[in-house]
Formats: sequence, structure tokens, C-alpha cells
Amino acid sequence: MTYGMLVAVHSFKGGTGKTLISTNLAATLASWGRNVCLVDLDLRAPSLDAVFPADGKLWVNDYLDGRCEAMDMLKDFSKDKGTRGRLLVALANPSMQAIREVVTKDSKWEMRALHRLLSLKDLLLKKLGIDYIFVDTSPGLSYASINAVAASDLVLVISTWDSSDVAGAQGMVGELYGLLEKRAMVLMNKIPEQLIIGDMKARMVEQFRKAFKLPVIDLLPCYCDILRAERSTILALERPDHPFVAALAEVAKRIEEAGKVRRET
Ligand SMILES: Nc1ncnc2c1ncn2[C@@H]1O[C@H](COP(=O)(O)OP(=O)(O)OP(=O)(O)O)[C@@H](O)[C@H]1O
Ligand SMILES: [Mg+2]
Repeated sequence: MTYGMLVAVHSFKGGTGKTLISTNLAATLASWGRNVCLVDLDLRAPSLDAVFPADGKLWVNDYLDGRCEAMDMLKDFSKDKGTRGRLLVALANPSMQAIREVVTKDSKWEMRALHRLLSLKDLLLKKLGIDYIFVDTSPGLSYASINAVAASDLVLVISTWDSSDVAGAQGMVGELYGLLEKRAMVLMNKIPEQLIIGDMKARMVEQFRKAFKLPVIDLLPCYCDILRAERSTILALERPDHPFVAALAEVAKRIEEAGKVRRET
């Protein structure tokens, strides 16, 4: 029996594009007919509720806290968003009270949360037939992000070309992913367009591949129209002809490849 995979979308610094990229990768794969679940584990700064409006009162926080079952907090957006495959979403509670609560959690709670995250993964992949779980994390080495990485089969590292971002991400690759023996790939984002014209792009891919000692999937430019777009827009579904969407389709194919290799070995 072969199962799907959990992809942790992580970065060292904030604002690199984790939420935008995980949402659009999930939507891309769901539009291709894959069954996908997107989990917001950025409990300190939840942001997926702008894209997936919550109608219930249960959140991933409640599940991790043991206050509800997984099925009670998962919401299926496939009908709303018109995807062929299932698009389940686990939202984090964006209220100030919930965020304050998260900040006070101790390491014991985090250990229990990891256990519950692993049970959620099991349920989604083995019982609900989900092919891909994308976990949107908070930047850096927060406990929740470490849990997401620990539970992952693949880490998608999003980095900008900012030197402190690259240095921090290199540290995470060497220490955290190395220690946990995690497979990882890098996606560079928000690269100034003039730096990736013609063969400069291939040179930069090689430069970052050497720096991270990991496969670098692509270098995505900064698009002003994305910055201007409403938070609620899912480009992959609403603007399929956008070059950012085409680039992410290639990233989705690489993730599918990685899943195939994992299943065959
Ligand atoms: N390639 C891009 N071109 C233009 N804008 C982008 C690009 N990638 C991300 N953005 C924009 O940058 C902002 C930050 O992106 P996003 O919220 O996805 O980052 P994040 O890594 O999830 O941030 P945080 O660490 O705060 O959770 C958003 O307004 C998003 O639309
Ligand atoms: Mg985010």
C-alpha cells in the first residue's frame, strides 16, 4: 500500500512567500484532481482565513489542544473553489486570545502537539486518501515549525536572495533538516527580475544549489501585480495564465516526482 506525503513549507525569515506558495501549490494539485489538505500551522500569525473563510468555531488549535477531533475542524473547500480533487483546509485561530495562548505553550504541550500532528497525518493519508498535505509554517525555529518539519516527508524551503535570509536558511538546512534527516528542496522567491534574465538564471540556480547543497527548483521573480492582488485571490484558480502559476505548476510536478521516488524506495 502506498500513501501520499506531507510537505512542510518553511523559511528562515518572514514574508518569503510561504503562505502564497503553499496555498497555490495545494490549489494547483487539487485542480489536477489530487486530494489535498492545507494546514495552517503558523499559529502565531494565522493568515489562511483570508483565502478560506471560516464558518465553524473549531480550529487546528482546538485539535492540537485535544479539544476536538480532526474531522470536526477540517473543512472541504473543493466545491467552493471548484477543484476536481478534494481541498481540505485546517485553519489556525486568528483571534488575539488564541495567539496569546499559543505564546504561553510549553515544550510538553508542543510534544503532545507533535503527536497529534502525526495522528492527523495518519488519518489524512491512510484513512481519507489525501495525496498531499501542505503545512504552512511560521518562519524560523518556532516549536510549531520544528514540529511541521519533524512530521514532514519533504521540506520545501522558501528563500529570498537577501543574504541574511540565505544564511539563516542554510543554517536550518544544516542543523534542523540534517539532524532530522529530512529531504528538502529550495524554491527561491521574490528575486529581482533583472537578475534572472537569460543565462544569468541558470548561473544563479547553480550558485544557490552550491550554497544550500540541495536541489534548487526555481527562482521566481517578484510580480508587482501579485503584491497588489487581494489576499483572498487564489491565482492558480483565478488566473491560470499568470507566469507565477505556470512556474508553480512545475514546482508541483517536482513534488509529485519526489512522492513517486519516495514510494518506489
Ligand atoms: N513572487 C512574488 N511576487 C510578488 N509578491 C509576492 C511574491 N511572493 C509573495 N508575495 C507577496 O509577499 C507577501 C508575503 O507573502 P506570504 O504572506 O505568502 O509570506 P509568508 O512567508 O507566508 O509570510 P509570514 O512569514 O509572515 O507568514 C504577500 O503580500 C504576497 O502576496
Ligand atoms: Mg505566512
